[in-house]
Order: sequence, then C-alpha cells, then structure tokens
Amino acid sequence: MKKGGTVFFCQSCGYESAKWSGQCPACRQWNTFAEEPAAPRVKNGAAVRKRSGGLKNGPVSLKEVASGDGERLSTGMGELDQVLGGGLVPGSLVLVGGDPGIGKSTLLLQVCRNLSVTLSGVLYISGEESLQQIRLRASRIGEFQDTLKLMCETNLADIEEVMLREKPVVAVIDSIQTMYQEDISSAPGSVSQVREATGVLLRLAKEQGITILIVGHVTKEGTVAGPRVLEHMVDTVLYFEGDRHASYRILRGVKNRFGSTNEIGVFEMQEDGLKEVANPSEYMLSGRPEGASGSVVACTMEGTRPMLLEVQALVCRTNFGLPRRTAAGIDCNRVNLLLAVLEKRLNLPFSSYDAYVNIAGGLRLSEPAMDLALVLALISSYRDVPVSGRTIVFGEVGLSGEVRAVSMAQQRVQEAKKLGFTRVLLPRSSMEQVKNISGIEILGVAAVKDALRFIG
Ligand code: TYD
Ligand code: MG
Repeated sequence: MKKGGTVFFCQSCGYESAKWSGQCPACRQWNTFAEEPAAPRVKNGAAVRKRSGGLKNGPVSLKEVASGDGERLSTGMGELDQVLGGGLVPGSLVLVGGDPGIGKSTLLLQVCRNLSVTLSGVLYISGEESLQQIRLRASRIGEFQDTLKLMCETNLADIEEVMLREKPVVAVIDSIQTMYQEDISSAPGSVSQVREATGVLLRLAKEQGITILIVGHVTKEGTVAGPRVLEHMVDTVLYFEGDRHASYRILRGVKNRFGSTNEIGVFEMQEDGLKEVANPSEYMLSGRPEGASGSVVACTMEGTRPMLLEVQALVCRTNFGLPRRTAAGIDCNRVNLLLAVLEKRLNLPFSSYDAYVNIAGGLRLSEPAMDLALVLALISSYRDVPVSGRTIVFGEVGLSGEVRAVSMAQQRVQEAKKLGFTRVLLPRSSMEQVKNISGIEILGVAAVKDALRFIG
C-alpha cells in the first residue's frame, strides 16, 4: 500500500472511496466528499490495544449472565425516558443528533441537572462552549447541585484519562465533531476522527460501565462528518427535530438496542429551557379554527403513541393552465395521487384547481393513514363546506378510491375519545379492531364516496 495516501469519505454517511465524486453513490447526497489521510487502521484503534493487554474475559454461560433488567436511570424527563424505552441503560452509548441550535446542549444539560440530584458522578464535557457560556445557559434553566462537574476539553486522550480517574456514572460529550485524537492526522470533525473518537467512547462505556451521551450535529454542508457515520457504533440513536419557527421540538428514537424505535417525545423550548409537552395532541390542536372548510382532524401514530393533528387544504380555481400544488408536512406526490383518485373516481374537476395542503404545527408525516383526512379536507375546501369539528378521520386511500385498513385503530380511537371527540371516521375493515369503547360514534367507510356524506 502507498504510504501517506489519502482517501475520500462522504461526510454524510461515511462511505469511503479511493477517488472524489460529486455525488455519494451510497446516500445520493451531493458535494459531501472530503479528502482525509488514509490512516493505517492497525496503528490505532481498540483491537491492538486489547490484544496487547492479554485476554481478560473468557466465554461465560449465558445463564450466568445477570440480566440487569430494570436497572434504568431515569433522566427526570418522562418524555425522554419514554423514547429511551424506560430510562438510560447503565453503560450504554447514546447519540443525540440534530440541527445546530435545536436544543441538544440544553436538553443534555437539563438531563445532567436532573441526574445529579441523585447521582454523585455526572460529568458534562463541552468542546464547543466555555465554562462561562455553560454557566450562562445553566442560569436560565435553574438551580444546580454541586455534584455536576463541567469540563471544557477536546483532546480525547485527556478526556479518557479524566473518565478513568473520576469514573462518572453518566458523561455527556458535546459534541463529537469537536473531539480529536492526536495520532490521527485528519482534522476534528472528519469521518476518521469522529469514528475513532466514538470507538474510544464505546470502549469506555462498555469497560467502565459509564453511560455516555454523545451530541452530534447534523451538518448541511459536507465539511464536517454528520452523526449518521456513527449510528452503527452506538446503542441508541435519538434525533431532535422541529420547525425552526415553532417552539416545539420532537425527539425521535431511530435506533434502540434496549427498547422500541420510532418512539417520540415532545418538548417545547421556553425561556427557561425545554419543557415536556405531556399531551401533544392537545398542543397540536390548539388554535384550530372551528367550522372552517378545508380543516380536518386526523390521527397519526408516532411509534406507539397516537397523535391528533389538523390537516388543512385550500382549493381554488387555477388562473393559468397548469394547476399549482404545494404540500407542507406531507409528500406532495401523495397529494397529487389523491387528487387524481378524486378526479377519476368521484368526477371532481381538480385538474383545473390549485391545491395547497398543510399539516398544522409543522410536523412532517409519511403515514398513509392520513390519506382519508387529506381527501376530506380537499373536498371540504372545494365545496366550501366544513367537516364537523368533533370528528376525527383516519384511513388509507387506494387507487380505486377504496378506504383500506390501518394499524392500531383502537389506540387512535381511544386518543380521540380522550380529547373529547364524538365521532370517528375509519376504514370499515379496521372496525373489528376497535372494541369496548363507548361514548364515541364509530363509523366505518369502505370507499371515499361513502365518506362524502360526513362533509357538512
Ligand atoms: P442549544 O441547546 O444551544 O442548541 P444545540 O446544542 O442543539 O446547538 O439551543 C440553543 C437555542 O435554544 C438558542 O436559540 C436559544 C434557545 N434557548 C431557549 O430558548 N431557552 C433556553 O432556556 C435556552 C437555554 C436556550
Ligand atoms: Mg450545543
């Protein structure tokens, strides 16, 4: 092998290539390749160090291994615990990704604050902010215990030394892109640095039993490696998302070795830190116009959690030849497809109408169960007749205009009832899933045309 050679890494997904290319063949992102020195892998990394230390652990019988069940650390935030599957598992490595400025540092500082009430070893390591800056942030959040220790450091060897000496129970690394190892020649934030740093942290977590939370910035331009390149190394991956203009934030679990994925937690960013939103449906529906045409309440599932939200549509006559269609929060192609179904199956002249669709609150959804609500919102706006404000709607719409079954109908109906809705419109084939719920009218429909009579 040529000495001192370089390789190219996609900074988005970590794909490695011998030559530069404009588009990454793995993740299809453009301009994400950056040149990094090819590190001879055997010189650093855990493998060699481990081998030189001799064999520590032989094989053991599965039955002898303590299950460690129930040993979870509560973060003091119910929403976060739910996404984690019941709290932090000791000795696990958790990645918290998200856009810069979304609130990752704030969330983790709040977690540290809560944990330090009961634990004596909580360490917050920042490579981005000075101690004063962290102090300033902390003063917005509230009172802190003496047991929370701060450190500003980016050299991973020093961090490792401190961790081995202090043996914290929980440590936060903010952020992985600022950490570096001296024996790797590429710059901090490069794919090799980020991977090697995570490797070191993984070893610390597993061998010392330290729970480590890593912050990873989602990067737009290809100069810094994104959190995706280390998703496979960690136990749990959480992404913090939210509309820049809305104050709520959604924490989504995309990988979890100790719980189910796709769970979400909802938070609101306030003056004094992040606050949990215990009832997201109520929050999403607040400010909904009652009795307006084109507005329908739908129920989507986020993991195991049902969430009610408002689907809005505005349909008006096209002034120019080609109708305009825009969709916010939902795939525009899906809207076009549903409009075509309505045109063909119900003879509605949507091809000469503009259609604008919006999921109120800035959520982004891809669940087909939203179809029926979308279709009703479009027709309601087209006819300018409102759908009853006390009705919720869910169901998938097929190309023949049929309404198809969706999963977890029972949970959706229960959520609707909890929030005081009096009528549910759902696929007829999902009706048998709904049992023993009284006080709410349940109406099954088999085709879109059966649902039309509920408009008005
Ligand atoms: P931050 O946690 O620094 O984001 P990240 O670490 O993901 O880059 O969040 C910064 C934003 O949050 C910033 O715009 C200010 C805002 N903020 C509040 O609104 N209230 C607060 O109490 C705090 C600490 C921050
Ligand atoms: Mg930060």
